[in-house]
Amino acid sequence: MICSPSFLSCDFDRLESEIRSVSNAKWLHFDVMDGKFVTNTTYDHTMLKQIQAYSNQFFDCHLMIEKPSEFIQDYIESGAHSITFHIEAQPNPKQLIQTLKDQNIKVGMSVKPNTDIATLDPYLPDLDLILVMSVEPGKGGQRFLPSALDKISYLNQKRMENGYRYLIEVDGGINLDTAKLVEDHGCDVIVVGSFLFNQDDRNAMIEVLEDV
Ligand code: DX5
Ligand code: ZN
Repeated sequence: MICSPSFLSCDFDRLESEIRSVSNAKWLHFDVMDGKFVTNTTYDHTMLKQIQAYSNQFFDCHLMIEKPSEFIQDYIESGAHSITFHIEAQPNPKQLIQTLKDQNIKVGMSVKPNTDIATLDPYLPDLDLILVMSVEPGKGGQRFLPSALDKISYLNQKRMENGYRYLIEVDGGINLDTAKLVEDHGCDVIVVGSFLFNQDDRNAMIEVLEDV
């Protein structure tokens, strides 16, 4: 699997060394929160520009924001490689999907734990990435919600039946045990925050997580 570290729980006073401590990861997960779609506020597109100076990883941007279509240009211009928005924040996403495709940005959609995964059905042929939330979005360090497993299996089944090419990404409460669990159900990319940043040797743990 691909490991996409969420640096939400890192020491922001030592950001460069924190990001370099997870340099083995091919992806880097940006958790953007606007204080409206979720109660917390984290950072905006300027964080991508800052980190671009010392990371050439794949910038996997998770927008937990309202009205994402109004803000995506900032993220595109700041170096996002994929932009994932929530269906709950963009109920009519066709135009947004097309705008991202037109600019060669990988398109991701995400569902919160209480959202029926079938709401994504109309968009499955168009997506590069589907982010299944295994915690309620808004903060790190929460426990994995097993209800995510059925969604992963559903997406994996749909992909096999229809030849869709999206990657399945899972986000929240990932550790060695839950990483194995989600992989068994068809997950391709794991977002790992607190479990990874609590390790002494993060780069070594990334290797272990990618090979579970
Ligand atoms: C939650 C974020 C997740 C979270 C993951 O809103 O989308 O990416 O930071 O952190 P852990 O791995 O600690 O659950
Ligand atoms: Zn996230």
